[in-house]
Amino acid sequence: MIITGKYPQLRLRRSRQNKWSRRLISENNLSVDDLILPIFIVEGKNKKIPVKSMPGIFRYTLDKLNSIVRNAIDLGIPMIALFPYTQKKLKDSLGTESLNPNNLVCRACKQVKKKFENKIGIMCDVALDPYTSHGHDGIYASGDVLNDETIKILVEQSLLQASAGCDVLAPSDMMDGRIGVIRKALDKNGFKNVQILSYAVKYASSYYGPFRDAVGTKNLLKGNKKTYQMDFRNSNEALREVALDIKEGADMVIVKPGLPYLDIIEKVKNKFKIPVVAYQVSGEYSMITNSINKGILNRDVVLETLMSFKRSGANAIITYFALQVAKDL
Ligand code: PBG
Repeated sequence: MIITGKYPQLRLRRSRQNKWSRRLISENNLSVDDLILPIFIVEGKNKKIPVKSMPGIFRYTLDKLNSIVRNAIDLGIPMIALFPYTQKKLKDSLGTESLNPNNLVCRACKQVKKKFENKIGIMCDVALDPYTSHGHDGIYASGDVLNDETIKILVEQSLLQASAGCDVLAPSDMMDGRIGVIRKALDKNGFKNVQILSYAVKYASSYYGPFRDAVGTKNLLKGNKKTYQMDFRNSNEALREVALDIKEGADMVIVKPGLPYLDIIEKVKNKFKIPVVAYQVSGEYSMITNSINKGILNRDVVLETLMSFKRSGANAIITYFALQVAKDL
């Protein structure tokens, strides 16, 4: 029963009258425990390079990384996500640099693990796009991205990142069957406690533009990613993706982007009861930041937006606002 009485006996405004009462009956809450902080990293020394399309976001050299991570730990943020900007000279059509045990992201993992041990979780993407000269997430041949050939490299990349200290591997490539193969390889190689956070539902979205600027893939991308990322007209297909990834051993799943896909978050949560992570992507970040000074209060609009993820059933949120929000909370 939703209605238990009627006006004037029943007044829903009664319980909204005071702040203590509103707090008491609040159905959803946001805490720092819900936040995952993405960090862009770049080669070099003593640099903090602004990302043009994402006001307030920077690429950091590794000597600057520890202080950001320290800040995140002090604020109580449970996990960071590391995204490397790869120098152009290191990119090729096979994404060879992804298998260099001393590549930027592996060095970053080692450094953070060594300094902070288990005080904060480290998440890394598993995909080739930071390393390929064509900007695709896998091996590209005659106009398409090759599934099975790509998975072989993703497995190697996963093992490398795991041995560098990555706690949570997040395959973001959308190849079929990769979760099962990666899980098997991790278990076989002594990484049975390394988690897999699958980008199970990743739409071919126009909201990724600023991110591609941040990691330097924007001008390289040949065509689009529609043969592997999902069609935004579909929602049943999202459930099939999640079902498969759970069967293959995913510990948690991502729905991405966030705000235009709240319906999907809710459906996935209701159907599978698995930890769901919403990714508030770069385009969402930019839209909100661009609206500051136009009468919209940044802080409040950010909290309101993040709460929509909680309401729809997300357990955690990857957000470029993580540091700011953690401070506000
Ligand atoms: C790479 C990757 C992308 C994002 C996260 N990992 C971009 C893409 O698939 O092209 C997007 C994140 C964002 O826009 O904030 N596979």
